[in-house]
This record gives sequence, C-alpha cells and structure tokens, in this order.
Amino acid sequence: MKLDDRQRDVINGGAGAAMAKAMKTLVGYGEAFGAARMVPVKSCHLAGTFGFVSYGAYYAVLEMMTAAGLRVVVPTTLNPRPGAALSLMNRYAFLKQKRLEEMLESIGATPNYSCVCYDGANVPGPGDRLAWAESSAVQYANSVLGARTNRNSVLIDICSAITGCTPEFGYLLDERRRGQVLVRLAVKEMDASALGYLIGQRVVNRVPVIEHYGFTAIQLKNMGGAMAAAGGVALFHVLGLTPEAPDMKTVFGGTEPAETLTITQEDLDGLRSRDLARPDLVVFGCPQMTYDEAVMLGHHFAGKKVTVPTWFCMVPAALRRLREDVLYGMLVDAGVAIHDVCPVAALSSQMGRKKILTSSGKLFYYLAGAAYGSEHDCLKASGVVA
Ligand code: F3S
Repeated sequence: MKLDDRQRDVINGGAGAAMAKAMKTLVGYGEAFGAARMVPVKSCHLAGTFGFVSYGAYYAVLEMMTAAGLRVVVPTTLNPRPGAALSLMNRYAFLKQKRLEEMLESIGATPNYSCVCYDGANVPGPGDRLAWAESSAVQYANSVLGARTNRNSVLIDICSAITGCTPEFGYLLDERRRGQVLVRLAVKEMDASALGYLIGQRVVNRVPVIEHYGFTAIQLKNMGGAMAAAGGVALFHVLGLTPEAPDMKTVFGGTEPAETLTITQEDLDGLRSRDLARPDLVVFGCPQMTYDEAVMLGHHFAGKKVTVPTWFCMVPAALRRLREDVLYGMLVDAGVAIHDVCPVAALSSQMGRKKILTSSGKLFYYLAGAAYGSEHDCLKASGVVA
C-alpha cells in the first residue's frame, strides 16, 4: 500500500509504539482487501460499548491506548449501552461496563450512546469518507446520506479514530457502490422492517436497488437495520429516493441488474408470527427510536393502559427531549417502560427466555426465540389498538 510521509513516520514509531501498532493494523487490514492507499476520515462511530465480562483482548487494547494518552483526532461517537442495571444477570454479564465507558470517554469519544448516531450526534454529508462500525448505522450513512464507509469492526475503527485515516477499498470506491440486484415490490401494505429482513436474506452482501417507494426516514432506518442483520448488506438504493439512485442507468452504472427479485405481500406477511396472543413483552426500537418515531407510535398509547409489558428503546438524546413533552407522562401512565439502551444486549442474557414480540427485524434476527409482528400487530399485542 502506498503511504504518505506522515503515515510512514507513524508506522516507524515517530508518534509512539501504540500509534505505530494502530497504523500497522490499518495497513494490514487494507492490504488484505487490496487497498491502494489510506484516506482521511471525517468521523468514526464505534460499536464495542457492551462491557461484557469476557472481552479481555479488547480491554487490553483500550488500556494500552489510554496508558499512551492517545485521543481520537476526528469526531467519534459510541453505540448504545447494554442495560447493565436492568437485571441481576446483566449486572454480572456487563461487569466491565463502567471501566469500558471510562476508557472510551478518556480517548475522547462522544458519550452519545446510540446506534442512531446520525440523529444529531454524528451527521455525515454526501461523499464523506467514514470509518464506522455498527451495521445499521453503516447502512444509513451509505444508503440514505450518501457517505462512504465499510462495515468495520470496533478495533479497526478505534485505530481509524486515533490516526484519522482508513484504507480505501470496498464501499469507499465508486465501483463497489453500484446496484447489483433489482428488487420489485408487489406489496399493498408496506412493512419496511419485514421488507429489509427479506431483502437481506435474499441478496446477502450484494447491493440491492429497490424500486421507487416513498419510504420515510424512520422506515429507511428500520429497513436498513433489518437488512444489515439478516444479510451482510452495507448499502442499498431506492430508485428516485436515495442520493445515488436518480435513475436505473446511474445506479446500475449503465449495466443490467445481475438479478431481479420480487417481494410480495405474502412474503411480508409470512414473517409475522401466527401466535400473537399475550407475549410476555413487546419491544419497539432497534435501531433505537428517534423522537419523531416515539411521537408517531406514542400517540396510540395516550389515555390507554398496556395489557402486556411494553418497551420503547430510544436514542438517549431523543428520550431527554421526550421527557420535556406531555407525551412522556402519557406513555408512563399507559405503563410503557422507556429505556435508552440496546434491547438485544439488555435481553440476551436473561435466564428463562421470555416470549418477546417485536416489530424490529434486527431484534427478531438477533434475539433467539423472539417473534416478529408488524407495528400494528405489536400495538395490538400491547392492548392499545383493536
Ligand atoms: Fe442498535 Fe442494539 Fe439494535 S445497537 S440496532 S439497538 S441491536
């Protein structure tokens, strides 16, 4: 890989041993993927915010960086907390939470603690090169905002955060961003999260181009999260809606789609659980809910009482804003438990799995035994709509 003078100096120890290790790691990573050079990044977003008791190697790297006094050199945001205080089991599983947060904040990361970092905390623009980990955020940045990032791991991204650069390959390059699979819709009632899940399963790690549909920002977030979990998709396009898909010719680079697939209403409905009666818990918000999403769903709960425990999992800053709103009191009175953590982490370590129903394709994918329901199914199971 071609390195500039500064990068070569860092590798040779000019900025200390820990920095040299970080730069060498990035070079090795880039060379494995055929990168020709390093490029500067505008921001980083780190996963790796669950202080799981057994992540020893990860903590050792962070300890080395903090001992060397390293700091991030670009804006760097953090994924959600795991809900360490939510149960006795979680307290044990996430025993390292406090120390992990101390280390991440001591290297200068922004304590936003959200996977929806692009909702105010870290908002990239079209063409910005990033080094983000967290598949749902990578999806949104690439697809909806037109920024450019690979799906990195947290250790790779920490190296980018302290050096300010990333190897140029994959989704940073024009040719990897073109559409590959055309997705036609034969759908009467849109369920964006289910659609994302099915597309992820079928296209795996290729770049899908969905025919035009007027998805909202909330739908794009939830669809992308599900697509990135059920498959390895890091970038999708929606014809006439997302920034790199003004028309077929542009998005497919003048070539024909390698494959065309159709998602039908039956496909979407097939994902919904047939057993919606009385789950133990209904969960909304994975990726975490924005303020607008909480307001949109929240009005169904006003003046009602939930008949089964119901969670809203929100972006922490959005929850702080909601607390100022009259709707917050209504949700609490309705019996909704409002959290600002990651529900997958919070619920994964529970002993004796509960029967959990969710409208999140991502939570459905990751939480063993969870059932999927449309938003309406979930509201109905909570007892607030007929
Ligand atoms: Fe976010 Fe946790 Fe879901 S990180 S996307 S709430 S799995």
